[in-house]
Amino acid sequence: MTDTVRVELGPRSYDILVGDGLLAEAGARIAAVTGRRAPIIVTDSEVAPRHLPTLLASLEQAGIASADPIILPAGEKTKDFAHLADLMDAILGRGIERSATLVALGGGVVGDITGFAASIALRGIDFIQIPTTLLSQVDSSVGGKTGINTRQGKNLVGSFYQPKLVIADTATLGTLPQRHVLAGYAEVAKYGLIRLPAFFAWLEENGSKVIDGDSAARRHAVRVSCQAKADIVGADERESGDRALLNLGHTFGHALEAATGFSDTLLHGEAVAIGMVMAFDLSARLGLCPATDAARARAHLQAVGLPVSPADIPGVAWDVNELLGHMAKDKKVKDGRITFVLARALGDAFTLRNVAGELVRALLVDSLKA
Ligand code: GLY
Repeated sequence: MTDTVRVELGPRSYDILVGDGLLAEAGARIAAVTGRRAPIIVTDSEVAPRHLPTLLASLEQAGIASADPIILPAGEKTKDFAHLADLMDAILGRGIERSATLVALGGGVVGDITGFAASIALRGIDFIQIPTTLLSQVDSSVGGKTGINTRQGKNLVGSFYQPKLVIADTATLGTLPQRHVLAGYAEVAKYGLIRLPAFFAWLEENGSKVIDGDSAARRHAVRVSCQAKADIVGADERESGDRALLNLGHTFGHALEAATGFSDTLLHGEAVAIGMVMAFDLSARLGLCPATDAARARAHLQAVGLPVSPADIPGVAWDVNELLGHMAKDKKVKDGRITFVLARALGDAFTLRNVAGELVRALLVDSLKA
């Protein structure tokens, strides 16, 4: 069964297809977009052995050839200028025309750099996302944020550039390491926490099924998450309003990631889980949100096995001043003020810029002890 979620953006609208086993029929879906022209697949060295043969077979079955796939090195380090230059060289070296289509097969790194390459190749060619991680299926493949990292920070060079189609095959999550499933789950829970209280309650009941691989539960979680993101992006593509709510947990989380060098010590989704708990705790301390709601957010994330405090990450000597320094450099800082995504209740997030620095410091100090 395939669920279709529509991202409504006028002439740039597109479908997100969610289903179990979609990769095997991706060829026909891609052909419908490319008009049978051969796409160029971009993937990475870890995803290629797992999923590339199925995608190539489905293209062949649909009667379309594919240019030689481009296989990038796996890992966040690939999202830099040097690899972008190599990627552009490989794309242009295949003698493309404006009618060419890139297909990004992989997680967030592949999707982000391929989307960016599509946005600048010949001033813009089509691209299709086939996300193969939970995090990319529910977040990064949807909404058109593309880009690379620079020495100044993550995603500081990029574009808003929407794909023509997203194919989220939930069966591909079957080969994902459990830690990465959990990290992606933090972004699933985020939609419940920012605007879908009933979905959060569903996750409290069914979250372990999503994590353990129950196919119907996974499909439901991915579909609801994509619908939530599609609604937000459809209303605010370039983040001048509600799209900022998707940054719940990211201000604290980004500082934690920066302090651990964006390494495997702390995955992005793990940092977001801790950051969301801190955002709810801050909301409760400010008297904006019932403490019972903050406790529920923490209890659920902890119950599924996510870290909920910096103290849950072993072997890191956290430093409050360093974390505050990273927060002040966040790209969401405006006129020197940090924008926090806070909550009035579970499922009711909003942004606030006037949060007293002492309160943030006190929260960080306490969280390091927790
Ligand atoms: N990942 C947040 C956004 O797409 O806006």
